[in-house]
Amino acid sequence: MTRVIVGVGGGIAAYKSCALVRRFTETGHEVRVIPTESALNFIGKATFEALSGHPVHTGVFADVPEVPHVRLGQEAELMVIAPATADLMARAAAGRADDLLTATLLTARCPILFAPAMHTEMWEHPATVANVATLRARGAMVMEPAHGRLTGSDTGAGRLPEPEEIFSFASLLLERTDAVPRDLEGRRIIVSAGGTREPLDPVRFLGNRSSGKQGYAIARVAAQRGAHVTLIAGNTIGLEPPASVEVVHVTTAEQLKVAVDKHAIGSDAVIMAAAVADFRPVNVAAAKIKKGADEPNSIELTKTPDILAGLVQSRRDGLLAGTAIVGFAAETGDEHADVLTHARAKLARKGCDLLVVNAVGEGKAFEVDHNDGWLLGADGTEIALDHGSKALLASRVLDSLGPLLR
Ligand code: C5P
Repeated sequence: MTRVIVGVGGGIAAYKSCALVRRFTETGHEVRVIPTESALNFIGKATFEALSGHPVHTGVFADVPEVPHVRLGQEAELMVIAPATADLMARAAAGRADDLLTATLLTARCPILFAPAMHTEMWEHPATVANVATLRARGAMVMEPAHGRLTGSDTGAGRLPEPEEIFSFASLLLERTDAVPRDLEGRRIIVSAGGTREPLDPVRFLGNRSSGKQGYAIARVAAQRGAHVTLIAGNTIGLEPPASVEVVHVTTAEQLKVAVDKHAIGSDAVIMAAAVADFRPVNVAAAKIKKGADEPNSIELTKTPDILAGLVQSRRDGLLAGTAIVGFAAETGDEHADVLTHARAKLARKGCDLLVVNAVGEGKAFEVDHNDGWLLGADGTEIALDHGSKALLASRVLDSLGPLLR
């Protein structure tokens, strides 16, 4: 059971912290909530007490013999501050200890994750920018806020990332024993995710079981490591767009190719996590195909373009000079060879820099939240990717991508 402290700042997004606390307790974590006094203007103390199953205090003068700020901080294995307001981050950056939350931040030696929420002007103000830089320089992880509708009618950067996204990132900090580096600042990365759908008629298509979860995790982690990420998404199972990521929706392999080719130009890396259909129906019926005298008994197929191979060819032709290219391979072994042997052959055939290999079938890789596999490099390196969350796998792939960037 991991001991997690959820700190809550005084912003309207404080209501989302309830879902976050719930997510932690449901997954077996021991949660203590420490709100600021102003957070209690938005959510009652009783709500946090009921959700966490522990008493809740805001100041250091409750329960004095227990010295709670020292005990809580020393015992915590993770601190997540959501929402982190401009004021709270300013106090944390200055090393203030004027309430239980800031005092606990000073005694904690565990990973600390701030999930900011504020108006765009406050997020972009040089004072906040400097405070965020200070916190990051000291090893805290400050998430990029989401873009979108803020309180009132304005939109922009500053929305609290969704509780699920904060939870997934917090879990990554617990899974990774080393810190998640912020090493992709200024990089432009294109990620494709999800499955394509090739229409047969207006209601039917040929598709696949890709959920998009792995590609979304890569986009999310790359953005939180500072990259500007464009996510080109095929069919996914209702995934929330990751915070601070530009999302382009496509349906067919052909549309995916057009979008990838367009966005790849001038990018630092393209990561092809999408499950692209290899074949599409030659004819797409304008009206729904009916049973009866004219019913078809076969579907004629034609090959779709191999987008990944096309990117590698463009790079050879000098069009994508300096763009690193990562492919995925979902493999099953067969009577000829095992998963890794097939994957090595695929890496050579595709000509990309890295190939992420997943063994699929029997509930593995597709649709689930965990993954494992191997990472094969064009230079012959082979790294086993241990079983873990898709965010952890994403993070390991980005670790290997970093040194390949120009
Ligand atoms: O050959 P295979 O489909 O197994 O290769 C998988 C890799 O190639 C993935 O990275 C996938 O995104 C990419 N791909 C592609 N265009 C296709 C088929 C696969 O870019 N038509």
